[in-house]
Amino acid sequence: MLKGLLFDLDGVLTDSAKFHLAAWGKVAESIGITLPPEANDGLRGRSRMDSLDFILRGAGQEDRFTEAEKEALATKKNAMYVEAIKSMTPADILPGIPQLLADAKTKQLKMIIASASKNAPTILRQLKIAADFDGVVDPATLHRGKPDPEIYVRAQELAGLQADEVVSFEDASAGVAAIKAAGQFAVGIGDKTVLAQADYIVPTTAALQLSQIEAAFNAQH
Ligand code: BG6
Ligand code: MG
Repeated sequence: MLKGLLFDLDGVLTDSAKFHLAAWGKVAESIGITLPPEANDGLRGRSRMDSLDFILRGAGQEDRFTEAEKEALATKKNAMYVEAIKSMTPADILPGIPQLLADAKTKQLKMIIASASKNAPTILRQLKIAADFDGVVDPATLHRGKPDPEIYVRAQELAGLQADEVVSFEDASAGVAAIKAAGQFAVGIGDKTVLAQADYIVPTTAALQLSQIEAAFNAQH
C-alpha cells in the first residue's frame, strides 16, 4: 500500500536545475571548458564536487586542479547559484506540483525531500512549501551520491516506511538509478529515453496525477 512520497527537489518541485547548469556553465567557461549537451542530464542529481569532477572528466582534465583549487571553483559556482535562487518565489513551483502535494496531504502520505543539494532548505523556504514535508535528508551526512541508493534509503527511513510503500520522483537518470537501486517505485519526469529505467514517466510535472501514479504503483505491488 502506498504510504509515502519521496521527492528530489531541483528539476522536480521547481526548475532550479537551470540555475545549477547556468552557474556551472560560467565556471566552466572561466577555465576554458564548454559544457557538452549531455551535461544537462549529467549534472542533474550530482553533488557539488561530483558535478565539478564530471565537468573536468568530460574535458579530459581530471588532474588539472588541486583539491584546494577545485574547492575554490565549487565555492564560486555556489555563490552564483545562491544569488540566482534568491529571486525564487512560490510562483516558481512547477505546474502540477501544488495539486500533487495537496492530494498527498489528503491521503495522509508521508512526504520527504531527497535532494543532493545543500541549498534545498533555502529553496523550500523561498517556495513557502517547507511545512508540507515531514523531513529533509541532510546531504552533508551522506557517504555516496546518486546513483548510489543511499539518499533514497535514508529518505524512506525518515518516513518510517519500507521500499514497497513509497513512490519516488526524479528528473535525472542518476536519480532514477538511485531509486531503483533502493528497490522503490520510480516516477521519472522528463525525456523518456534518458529516464527509461523509471517505472512511470511523464514529460513534465504538469502531467503528474496522484491517482494515476497510485494505480501504476498498485499494479506493480
Ligand atoms: C542536486 C542538483 O539536487 O543538488 C545538482 O540536481 C546539484 O545539480 C546538487 O549539483 C548539489 O547542489 P548544491 O546546492 O549542494 O551545490
Ligand atoms: Mg533533480
